Amino acid sequence: MGLDNLIDPEVNQNTQSFYVIQEYIKRVPVETILEIGGGGGGSTEAVIKGVQSSNTSNNVKFASIELSRGRYNFLKDKYKDVPFYIPYNTSSVTLDKLPSEEEVATFIKQTGVHGGNVEEVLRWLRQDIEYTKENGFNECGIQKVKDDLKVQKFSFVILDSGEFCSNAEFRELPDCDAYFLDDINVYKNWYVHRELLNNPEYVLLFKEDIRGGSSLFCKKEIAVKYFTR
Ligand SMILES: C[S@@+](CC[C@H](N)C(=O)[O-])C[C@H]1O[C@@H](n2cnc3c(N)ncnc32)[C@H](O)[C@@H]1O
Repeated sequence: MGLDNLIDPEVNQNTQSFYVIQEYIKRVPVETILEIGGGGGGSTEAVIKGVQSSNTSNNVKFASIELSRGRYNFLKDKYKDVPFYIPYNTSSVTLDKLPSEEEVATFIKQTGVHGGNVEEVLRWLRQDIEYTKENGFNECGIQKVKDDLKVQKFSFVILDSGEFCSNAEFRELPDCDAYFLDDINVYKNWYVHRELLNNPEYVLLFKEDIRGGSSLFCKKEIAVKYFTR
């Protein structure tokens, strides 16, 4: 499937994640939200619903980065009346930050994820690189959002973009208050999920194992303040 084709919402009403994202945003005062990978708009919808049902919606800025022109245009149009939604059509990180083919092949062989099909996964990597080059997306989208919004650390981050981007995105977004990770059981968020699990400053609030698996982490002090009775 080409990157310009529209796709169905993935973090959708049939996942617990869809409701957990909303609940987090309702409970915890958030000001700056960054979603990477608008895609089919599932996590986008969850964030928008969460913000609209919280009482802080006037102060929220919700930036969303999507590489695909088709999906970006669809989401931009769908949410044109949502004042706090700021969509970006660009790449989250520059291509030099993506893993090498050798690195990806080794991972697939060692873990057996994606049916252990190295050639197919490398085809995705080449497709993403080609699309990014063809469309001239050679900036670091995360840096652009940080500059535009004058924000260094976000209140809530969703890492759900390309299969090969999350490690680099996470390096660009240290010390944020909370991270929602989609696809923790494949290459995408395999390492970020495990790194946060081992970080004593963060608490795992939620994990589900349907599809590629997903998880939500937040800073320990936030968990103590808003998620203990
Ligand atoms: C799995 S989908 C996102 C699903 C979405 N969060 C949902 O719940 O419907 C991943 C999206 O990330 C986009 N993507 C891939 N590489 C990207 C990059 N470097 N920067 C931003 N978006 C990227 C793809 O075009 C795709 O639409």
